[in-house]
Amino acid sequence: MDRDDAVTEDLEQRTRRVFDAHHREQADDPLIYGRLVSLISPEYFQLPPDWFEGKHVLDVGCGSNANASKAFLELGAAHVRSVDLGTGWMDVAGAELAAYGSRSSLADENVTMLSIEDGAYDFVHCAGVLHHTSDPRLGHSELVRVAKPGGYVFATVMANAKGLLYQFFNLLRDQYKRDEDFRATIDGLSADGTSEALDWLFSEKAKREPSLPEEERVLRSLFDADLVLTIKDRIQAPTYHDFDFTEEQIRGWFADAGCQDVVRLSRYTYGFGNLRRFLAPMYLEYSHPLARLWFGEGYVQMIGRKP
Ligand SMILES: C[S@@+](CC[C@H](N)C(=O)[O-])C[C@H]1O[C@@H](n2cnc3c(N)ncnc32)[C@H](O)[C@@H]1O
Repeated sequence: MDRDDAVTEDLEQRTRRVFDAHHREQADDPLIYGRLVSLISPEYFQLPPDWFEGKHVLDVGCGSNANASKAFLELGAAHVRSVDLGTGWMDVAGAELAAYGSRSSLADENVTMLSIEDGAYDFVHCAGVLHHTSDPRLGHSELVRVAKPGGYVFATVMANAKGLLYQFFNLLRDQYKRDEDFRATIDGLSADGTSEALDWLFSEKAKREPSLPEEERVLRSLFDADLVLTIKDRIQAPTYHDFDFTEEQIRGWFADAGCQDVVRLSRYTYGFGNLRRFLAPMYLEYSHPLARLWFGEGYVQMIGRKP
């Protein structure tokens, strides 16, 4: 193994370790898991309501809880192959998908070198994965390779650092790498800890001034376990390539792979029990000036058809 291979392997192991912990927590919380499964619908992909019935779907970087795989199975897919790095996640995903029997299978795969024959799948799904890999563009070309002619490739790539929020996350990520105390604080973030911090704030404040009506309830409703996991994800994940992707670049990956009917998708994300419900309009209308200010080019969610 040469040094580059060793560095890549280390990146993959560290990435998997971070996400395995998050995905197990998501699976244990029915509200978070239900929200994640509900993200997938034919309407979101601009496909007819019954499109997934009888289809063969590949969910690449499915995560330990395989939430999207579950949604595709619920939509009537004939078979969903759920793949991620290694085998350490399969206990959780296997439990979530056990009810679907032989319609579901799990495998150890790396998106940058899939051991899958060309043209095997009607729909290739890869959400939130490419920006965590050593070579996102190579990973994308693999997604297209394994799609059937006429099949769809869907990939999402996280945001872009022209937005204030991602500039801020880049600073936090640098701090996390350099500063042991900050790293321990982020690693130790939890919903219980957040709730205790709010208890302390409210009790200290109440000693000094009366509360405004509803202020405690509203402030508490901005924070939950789902938000804590999102914040940890953005800071702990070993790479996001500095959030330095553009919509044009990702369109270029689809175009260079010969894809047709390439469309950027967006949706209103329902079901947040935290402050992200106030961001949901900006996720949908990603080119609004307010969304551009916060998120730059936003979370690029793109679908294309293999000719
Ligand atoms: C943010 S999680 C997304 C999980 C899931 N797709 C979802 O949307 O909930 C990123 C996932 O990508 C996986 N991943 C990272 N690099 C990968 C690679 N080279 N090949 C396959 N999966 C990878 C990680 O192990 C992790 O489960």
